[in-house]
Amino acid sequence: MKKHTVLSSQAQTDTIEHLTDVLIIGSGAAGLSLALKLADHCNVIILSKSDRNEGSTRYAQGGIAAVFDEQDSIEAHIADTLVAGAGLCNEEAVRFTTESAKSALEWLISSGVPFDTEKDDKGKTRFHLTREGGHSHRRILHAADATGEALQITLNDAVAEHPNIHIFECYNAIDLICSKSRPTYSNGAYVWNLKRSHVEVIRSKFVALASGGASKVYQYTSNPDVSSGDGVAMAWRAGCRVANMEFNQFHPTCLYHPQAKNFLISEALRGEGAYLCHKDGTKFMHKFDERADLAPRDIVARAIDFEMKRLGADCMYLNISHKPSDFIRKHFPNIYRKCRSLGIDITREPIPVVPAAHYSCGGVMTDFNAKTDLENVYAIGEVAYTGLHGANRMASNSLLECVVFAHAAAKHILTALPNSDTPGAVAPWDESQVVNADEEVIIQHNWHELRLFMWDYVGIVRTDKRLERALRRIQLLSQEIQEYYAHFRVSHNLLELRNLVTVAELIVKCAMQRKESRGLHFNLDYPDLLPEAKPTVIKHELSKPTVQPGSLATGISDE
Ligand code: FAD
Ligand code: SIN
Repeated sequence: MKKHTVLSSQAQTDTIEHLTDVLIIGSGAAGLSLALKLADHCNVIILSKSDRNEGSTRYAQGGIAAVFDEQDSIEAHIADTLVAGAGLCNEEAVRFTTESAKSALEWLISSGVPFDTEKDDKGKTRFHLTREGGHSHRRILHAADATGEALQITLNDAVAEHPNIHIFECYNAIDLICSKSRPTYSNGAYVWNLKRSHVEVIRSKFVALASGGASKVYQYTSNPDVSSGDGVAMAWRAGCRVANMEFNQFHPTCLYHPQAKNFLISEALRGEGAYLCHKDGTKFMHKFDERADLAPRDIVARAIDFEMKRLGADCMYLNISHKPSDFIRKHFPNIYRKCRSLGIDITREPIPVVPAAHYSCGGVMTDFNAKTDLENVYAIGEVAYTGLHGANRMASNSLLECVVFAHAAAKHILTALPNSDTPGAVAPWDESQVVNADEEVIIQHNWHELRLFMWDYVGIVRTDKRLERALRRIQLLSQEIQEYYAHFRVSHNLLELRNLVTVAELIVKCAMQRKESRGLHFNLDYPDLLPEAKPTVIKHELSKPTVQPGSLATGISDE
C-alpha cells in the first residue's frame, strides 16, 4: 500500500495543517517532472485543482521539440526559437533550454513515454520527427497526435508508484503564506479543499508553482478549465515580479463547431502538408508570409482573424484531404476520430477552424534554477517567465521548457535542502469576519463579462482605446471582487475569478507599456517595431493590500 508521506496532519483550532518538504502546486508536465526528480530524497505533496490528469499537458497534441535528426543542430533550434520570439527571447535561456533538450527527452523516454518510431532506410528504428510552424527541421517527438496524454499518464503512473509523493486532488491553492517579519520566504500555502469546502494549511520548506497558464481569461480558449492563472496571481500578491504578460498566444486552428469545446487541430497537420483556405478552397497564407502555412502562429492567427473580419466569415478552413487517407488516420487518429464524431471527415473535406487563446508566454520571473524573487519559491512550466519564448512561443517548446526547468529546479532544491529552514508557524485561516456568500450570480456575471471584454478588447489585435476600456472595466470588477472576497466565505469560483481579474489587469498593464507591435502583441496605434527589444517587467507594491485590512487573504501571516 502506498505510504502517506505527509509528515504531520493535525487540527490546529479549526484549520487542518499538513507539513512536507516540497509543496508543488500543479500536476502537469512541470509539477510531475519536478516531483519525480525530488522524491527519492524528500517528501513531496502535489496539489491538483481538479483530477490529477486535468491540465493543458493532457491535451497537448503536436509534441516536444529536441534535436534528434543528424541534419538538424542545436544552433538551428536556437535560431528558429529566436526568430519566432521576434527579438525578445533571452538568448541564454534559449541556449540553456535547447542544449538541455536531448537529456530531458531521454529522461521522458526512459520514464516510458511512448514516442512514435519508424524504420530508417537501413531498417534501423528511430524516432519519428514531425514538423511545426517556425521549425526549420523535423524536430518534434510525438505520440501520434496525443503526445500530452501519453506524457501525463506515464508520469502520473510513476508518481502513483512513489512512496514519497502524495497527490492532493481537488485542492485549490489560495495564496502563498509569507510572514511580515520575513516577507521573501514562504511558509507554504493556504489551500481550499473542494470536496470538504474548507481551507487547510500546507507548511513546506519549498514551494513550486507549476499551475499552468492563464488562457481562461479569454472567452475562447484551447485550454481546460484549470488554466486560470492562479500561480501568476499568487506570486504577484506575494511580491514576485512578473514579465511579458501582454504576450498571450492565440492558436490559429481550434475546431469551429458548436459541440466542440476547446478542441485543437494540431499545427502538425500544417507541418505534414495541410493548408488554410476560404470556404471555396482558395488558399490565402502566401499573401501574409513567405513561409505561408508554416509561418509562426502569431502571423497565422492574425491572418485568419484578418480574413474572417474582411469576409465577415465565422471561420476559415484547414484542408489535409489531399493526403492519403491512411496517412491521415495513422498520424492524426485522435483528430480524425473527434472530427468524425462531429460529422466532419477530414480525409475528404476541410476542417472549419478559428483562433483561440492558447498559451501564456509571460509569467512569474525566474532564473535558470526556476527560482522566483522569493527565497524558497520556484515557478516552472507555463506559469513561469524564463525568457525562452520572447514575444511568441515556437510550437512544442513549452513541454520542453516544463521538463528542462523542472530538472533545474530539482537540482537547486536538493542542493539547498540540507540547510533549509523548517517552515514557521502559520496563523490559522480566519473566517471570523466573513459570512456565507448570498449571491453566486455576481460571480457568474463577472466571470462572463471579464472573459468577453478580454476577447474583444485585448485579443489578437489591440488599440490604445480598447486597452483603456478594458482597464476601466477591470478596475471596477477588481474592486467588486475584493469587496466580495473580504466579506464572504471563499468558494472555488470566487478564487478563480479573483485570480483571473488580477491576471487580466497584468496583461492589460503590460500591453499598455509596450509602445510597439512585436510578436503576439499587435497594437494598431503602434504598428512598428521599436529598435530595442525589452521585456515588460512589473512588480507589485506590497504596501498596497489587495484586500481590505484585517483579512488574512493576502497570504501575509502575522506569525
Ligand atoms: P498544466 O499541464 O496546465 O497543469 C497545471 C496544473 O496546475 C493542473 O494540475 C492544475 O490542476 C493545477 N493548478 C492550477 N491552479 C491551481 C491551484 N490554484 N491549486 C492547485 N492546483 C492548481 N505544448 C507543447 O510543447 N507541445 C504541444 O504539442 C502542445 N499542444 C498543446 C495543445 C493544447 C490543446 C494546449 C491547451 C496546450 C498545448 N501545449 C503544447 C502547451 C502545453 O501543453 C502547456 O504549456 C504545458 O502542458 C503546461 O504544463 P504545466 O505543467 O505548466 O501546466
Ligand atoms: C499543436 O499541436 O498545434 C500545439 C503545439 C503547441 O502548442 O506547442
